[in-house]
Amino acid sequence: MANETLTITDNRTGKTYEIPVTHGTIRAMDLRQIKGSEGDFGLMSYDPALENTASCKSKITYIDGDKGILLYRGYPIEQLAEKSDYLEVAYLLLYGELPTESQYKKWVHDITYHTIIHEKVKKFMDGYRHDAHPVGMLISTVGALSTFYPEAKEIFNSEIREIQINRLISKMPTLAAFSYRHTVGLPYVYPDNDLSYAGNFLNMMFKMTELKYKPNPVIERAIDILFILHADHEQNCSTSAMRSVGSSLPDPYSATAAAIAALYGPLHGGANEEVLHMLKEIGSKDKIPEYIKKVKAGEFRLMGFGHRVYKSYDPRAKIIKQIAHEVFEVIGKNPLLDIALELERIALEDEYFVKRRLYPNVDFYSGLIYQSMGLPTSMFTVLFAIARTSGWLSQWKEMLLDEERKIVRPRQVYLGSDRRDYVPLEERG
Ligand code: CMC
Repeated sequence: MANETLTITDNRTGKTYEIPVTHGTIRAMDLRQIKGSEGDFGLMSYDPALENTASCKSKITYIDGDKGILLYRGYPIEQLAEKSDYLEVAYLLLYGELPTESQYKKWVHDITYHTIIHEKVKKFMDGYRHDAHPVGMLISTVGALSTFYPEAKEIFNSEIREIQINRLISKMPTLAAFSYRHTVGLPYVYPDNDLSYAGNFLNMMFKMTELKYKPNPVIERAIDILFILHADHEQNCSTSAMRSVGSSLPDPYSATAAAIAALYGPLHGGANEEVLHMLKEIGSKDKIPEYIKKVKAGEFRLMGFGHRVYKSYDPRAKIIKQIAHEVFEVIGKNPLLDIALELERIALEDEYFVKRRLYPNVDFYSGLIYQSMGLPTSMFTVLFAIARTSGWLSQWKEMLLDEERKIVRPRQVYLGSDRRDYVPLEERG
């Protein structure tokens, strides 16, 4: 192996520095020794959207954006989607290995038996307006859980920490479903411990007067696979928020609320909702070329397309496209599917998208499936949040136990005024 260092010559001073290269990176702090003059603060790197900055070392999720590869703890997403289930994947993400049979049974039991929420949570959910967005309700109710479990602050007590992880994963579908029931004015449905994680979520969403809700197995499995596909995605915006907020050491409910807020935006987990609005706006296949023209003119973006890391087809989108066909066979085709397929076909042949390597991402087809299942668009990001909770918590735990952990506190390049004296109001021109 050649010498794993980088030699930097500072042309301002003519001095040369040798900086170690580890895992294909240099430490930004090693740049600090490079000073333009005596008393200079030292060199920093400038990376406003952290496009080329590794903010942590992680053993959880691996992505090869050029090849379209996604691995959770080394296991390909395609195998997990085919053979595993969401709770097993959540265990894998959190504990690093697939569970043994007894570990799996205990884990599923523990998650299933913590799904009920405190009755007082229902009371303050009642206070939201009838048309409140479910994500807003989820952010605040998840944050509020910290007031119900004040011991959650003891994040370095592993036993207490594990209980909160368990509570968050088990209660997230309950809070999500309750926020939906609130917006449609339906009574809240309590969890059913006989059902699977996905089946119980559907129960809490859709149960009406029947004594026992029986989820459609195709829809139940499709939801479970969608949860697997959304479970983690290394250092995306919401996970970075989880780690960043978590680095000041609050309880995990507060950090998770911050992560959901980061997910909400249309450039991240809010994109699936936007895709549906876009497909409706396009309305018919013949309007696609005109729509693409506007995208290319920079009027707006093609939602559900492009990714910071994937510069080839998002492997999750491939799996979702496949599930969409299976779901539509059972519940009938979503009329917007034909527009989506045609939009994808045209975009993938268009030089603008080819040159920029813009492909469908996870959000392009997921909304179509959710809509066909009877889920309102406002719930799409909520579903993403349920699934991503296991990823956020795995990354949060990894961050807490990292021996290099410190509060996240970036630097800035200050371009404002030099020091100046205060001018009294009457003297200002
Ligand atoms: N439609 C049209 N042009 C696009 C798109 C798009 N969806 N995405 C990127 N571009 C263009 C962009 O205008 C730029 O062109 P130019 O070089 O001429 O200025 C080039 O491609 C590079 O874009 P960028 O903004 O530098 O890329 P980024 O890595 O900062 O952004 C992204 C990634 C996902 C925010 C962006 O692709 C986007 O806005 N996509 C639409 C929203 C979306 O689908 N988000 C879901 C992401 S996947 C799931 C998740 O993370 O939640």
